[in-house]
Amino acid sequence: MNIYGKYYNAMTRVMNSLVQNIEENSRKHEAKTGEKLFEHLRYRIKDENSMLEKLERNGLGQTTHNALRSITDSIGLRIVCLFIDDVYENIALIKSIPGCTVIKEKDYIQNAKPNGYRSYHMILDMLADEPDPDGNTPGHFFVEVQLRTIAMDTWAALEHELKYKRDIKNQELIVSELHRCANELASCDVSMQTLRRIIRG
Ligand code: GTP
Ligand code: MG
Repeated sequence: MNIYGKYYNAMTRVMNSLVQNIEENSRKHEAKTGEKLFEHLRYRIKDENSMLEKLERNGLGQTTHNALRSITDSIGLRIVCLFIDDVYENIALIKSIPGCTVIKEKDYIQNAKPNGYRSYHMILDMLADEPDPDGNTPGHFFVEVQLRTIAMDTWAALEHELKYKRDIKNQELIVSELHRCANELASCDVSMQTLRRIIRG
């Protein structure tokens, strides 16, 4: 049996409905302003092996209840925007979606992680028409949303790639260079944002 048990289909519906809502927001915004609200949007249900590994790593039993309750990123969305302002506009629109409650948020854009990582993270509690593992109907399903600019996404992808290269020499130099790159990209984001404001008048 899949780690998500009988909830897998409900999770898929929760994810698809949230994606549709966000895409609809973007369409409306584009119709009004001629500008896209995000560059791209990715979403996934964490695959079974990653979930089993995460449960084990966190010292949790490999149960459906833990996968959907103790772990909050079984459903994940990543929204990649052109400009920093668009990240915050998407956040506001997501917060206004009916049945959506933000239970945790971290602004790693205002407060970058020590390694230079930037993104906005939210854990949503989405209300769905179907039962959840606690026996509630309507049910509650957690969704992790990561929002970032293209520049932040580029850095995260490169850093993720490098992180898994073991036995590297000059560890200290690499960490400090990655941090420097993150700061340079962040400074570009601010310049691009300023350029757009100037162009818009
Ligand atoms: P914690 O409460 O500290 O766990 O914060 P969080 O759950 O908000 O963030 P966490 O560090 O767990 O990161 C969640 C996800 O964000 C990860 O699975 C990654 O996709 C992404 N992420 C966080 N930090 C980094 C980082 O340093 N580099 C990269 N490439 N991705 C990161
Ligand atoms: Mg975490």
